[in-house]
Amino acid sequence: MRIGVALLAGALLLAVAGCGGGDESRARAAGREAVRSGEPPRETRRAEPQPPPPRRIDCGLADCVSLTFDDGPGEHTERLLDILKAAGVRATFFVLGQMVEEHPEIVRRMVLEGHEVANHSWSHKDLTGLSAAGVRSQIRRTQQAVKKAAGVEPTLMRPPYGATDEKVARAAGMPQILWSVDTLDWRYRDADRGARVGIGEPGRGGIVLYHDIHKPTVDCIPRVIKGLKKRGFTLVTVGELFQDVRLEPGEI
Ligand code: NI
Repeated sequence: MRIGVALLAGALLLAVAGCGGGDESRARAAGREAVRSGEPPRETRRAEPQPPPPRRIDCGLADCVSLTFDDGPGEHTERLLDILKAAGVRATFFVLGQMVEEHPEIVRRMVLEGHEVANHSWSHKDLTGLSAAGVRSQIRRTQQAVKKAAGVEPTLMRPPYGATDEKVARAAGMPQILWSVDTLDWRYRDADRGARVGIGEPGRGGIVLYHDIHKPTVDCIPRVIKGLKKRGFTLVTVGELFQDVRLEPGEI
């Protein structure tokens, strides 16, 4: 059965995971220092904004659909975030590292508002045309940019153009998420068409591909959200869609 999701996990994921312990202990030490010097501990002065807690949505019971937005963040992304916030919807953003570097504050906002930030390479190269080292660099630089911007590291990636092979899978070392509905929004740039496809085509467990760098795409999203909800769908991030699915390395 083709569900539009390619999944190939490798060892690199382990290598890039988990490295926050040092910061935490430094923060605790700073807190103790502040107490000794008579100031209130740092934590009680002003809490850093935190992402909302994860939601428990059972997509085995609910009919879930994920809206995904590629190639940003860009000039229309903040308006999209306003729309998603007003509707109480969480989405998944497959960001380009070079755009993250340009708009780190938007990526930070995505995380703080409960969206999932995922890796779409550094500069949108066809990864199948690069060496393994080239693929690793495209992925790793983007991981680092997102970490720097928002304090989290993506756990999912989507290869540009959906172009992937064994070498890319191994070098990227992360689950690869493709899509089940390609809206072709980048080609048509038509909000009416974007709404029609985005509302009409997804089935249960669908992953809808949009690009937040195009104005007509952002224009159509309020209608898409309304239409999908009317069809009975619960809108979730890709991570939420797969939270009860054991992703096996090498599975496609
Ligand atoms: Ni793309």
